[in-house]
Amino acid sequence: MDKLNQQPSPNFPSRAARIALYPGTFDPITNGHLDIIRRGLYVFEKIMVIVAVNVTKTPLFTLEERCSLIQECFRDFNDRVEVDYTSGLIVDYAVEHNISAIIRGLRAISDFDYEFQLALMNRKLVPSVETVFLMTGFEWIYISSSGIKNAARLKGNVSGLVPSHVEEALKRKFS
Ligand code: COA
Repeated sequence: MDKLNQQPSPNFPSRAARIALYPGTFDPITNGHLDIIRRGLYVFEKIMVIVAVNVTKTPLFTLEERCSLIQECFRDFNDRVEVDYTSGLIVDYAVEHNISAIIRGLRAISDFDYEFQLALMNRKLVPSVETVFLMTGFEWIYISSSGIKNAARLKGNVSGLVPSHVEEALKRKFS
């Protein structure tokens, strides 16, 4: 069923992609992430933003802080965006919640290698969960959570790159 060259058939499993996961470290969420979520909402009825663990990163914000900074962005979204976390594999979370799509954002060619490996590893682990790539808006291709943290740490102005409550949270962290 999961062979790449197999044609869709009427019996193809219908875990219709109405809901997608959007996983990341989100340390913290940026306007670039919000841009991906906005684009994703054109395609999916609901997006679950999942704060997950990247073992190579030591986050500045706690898990709770990261989740609540994301939640704050989506107060008025009438349940179309939900926030959750996992300390396990994203594909396991997808299977447990009967979700078949994972959204990842691409900023530049430099993202491709890493994303390609991640998507193929996820496909190897659970072939029925597909990764869907969305292109970030041009105005966000140069930003990353680390870049923003570095600037904020040195009292640089990050307004316009993150939501205002995230800007305030960064100021508090580095005060
Ligand atoms: N706009 C701005 N910045 C963006 C962006 C966008 N649209 N998309 C990504 N970025 C930035 C992030 O801010 C982040 O910056 P940083 O490296 O400075 O922190 C960087 O690009 C990549 O971040 P992100 O997309 O959040 O990915 P990640 O590497 O932090 O997260 C996980 C990867 C968490 C999704 C992945 O490790 C994972 O799935 N972990 C769970 C365990 C698992 O299932 N592993 C896979 C199989 S082994």
